[in-house]
Amino acid sequence: MSDHPSLVDSAPKAALATAAERFGTPCFVYDEAVVRERVASVREAFEGRFEISYAVKSNPNRAVIRALVGVVDRLDLSSGGELLLAEETGWDPGLWSFVGPVKRPGELRLAVELGCGHIVVESERELRELDETLAAAGTRGSVLLRINPSELPKGFGVSMARRPTIFGIDEEEIDSAVELAQSLPHIELAGFHVYAGTQCLDADALAENIRNIARLYTSLLDRHSLSVEHLVFGSGFGIRYHDGAEGLEPRQIASGCVDAIDALRAHPGAADATMALEMGRFLVGESGWFVTRVLGTKHTRGTALLALDGGMNHYLGASGNLGGVLKRNYPVTAVTNSEGEATPYDLSGPLCTNIDALGKGIEMGHVGPGDLVAIGCAGAYGITSSPLHFISHAPPREVLIPAEGGIDAAIDITDQSPISDPPDWARFAD
Ligand SMILES: Cc1ncc(COP(=O)(O)O)c(C=O)c1O
Repeated sequence: MSDHPSLVDSAPKAALATAAERFGTPCFVYDEAVVRERVASVREAFEGRFEISYAVKSNPNRAVIRALVGVVDRLDLSSGGELLLAEETGWDPGLWSFVGPVKRPGELRLAVELGCGHIVVESERELRELDETLAAAGTRGSVLLRINPSELPKGFGVSMARRPTIFGIDEEEIDSAVELAQSLPHIELAGFHVYAGTQCLDADALAENIRNIARLYTSLLDRHSLSVEHLVFGSGFGIRYHDGAEGLEPRQIASGCVDAIDALRAHPGAADATMALEMGRFLVGESGWFVTRVLGTKHTRGTALLALDGGMNHYLGASGNLGGVLKRNYPVTAVTNSEGEATPYDLSGPLCTNIDALGKGIEMGHVGPGDLVAIGCAGAYGITSSPLHFISHAPPREVLIPAEGGIDAAIDITDQSPISDPPDWARFAD
């Protein structure tokens, strides 16, 4: 038997049912204890070699960002809005990095004004623009150059390497960007950043990727006689989106790359550098479930359809419309069952379109009107990655089960979402 029970087998059904009854459906339920376990598994595996930087885009609810204060080490932010969320949630700006290939002038200004620890620059154009922004503010800024590597091992569900993309500076052109950074008066070249792929469940490929990045950094330190302060290893650790997928074991990844990290650390140019794994979904994805209620059943032309109060407007990823070549079911389970014959079900959301389907042929016993169905991996890229306004249904609730107190202490965190309470966009208007 596998060491990793499937995500469906480990669904916290009793807690999900309680949350749905107490807070209403549809709802996203996040279990903080699972996030802490994930963080601990990464820390234990790498034994202090890496800090952990949380990618806020994966789940930007303020309650989640706050819950990570003192749990992870840094925040990875990708917009002016995320900079403001980080500010509001009490994170030390020195621990932020601001990444993104298309930053507006107002966003660069805001990052400088708030004292963002590292600005990750993705082109020579942006380097020059940031230099001017820093000059206008009368200060210098710590910059990481984002490199788009020429190679990425096989096994990443999403890849940005090798091909033409907007992300980062092509590895082939990085030397000239380093020289430019060194020549600009307000830029302090603090290090480098790579994030070239994600959703990888192959420990060997992830380890190889870390080894490749370490090699790339070593070669840059040598070529430019640099001493750096910070290096980011965009990790790409994946989660169990699909039936039968085995979860990652961070120890297995670490065993394939700690030698390379230690060799990089032994380089005089990296001796004092902090090194961070940057990740979102691996930390929060499997902590979350989307719980929706069955409003009705329809038997149509040989298929049993469930009419659900939640759909792709709330959780686009589960409908297969957020990317990915194949439409495959996310982990789905009945939270409650009712009497009747077990049947495979297709899941239909409330939108007037055929693409609002959250699963096909799902075997979960018999469910009927009033029962609850939950879809996993909903802690990352859930509510804020979905077309909530489409067809004007009410937004779902968001619920946090705190690490201390469990489901009895669960709280409604809907109002802390940037959806209910957007950041003040005017603060970074151009
Ligand atoms: C630069 C950067 N860092 C980190 C992440 C987080 O990725 P994941 O949630 O797959 O770990 C992303 C996701 O798009 C990203 O673009």
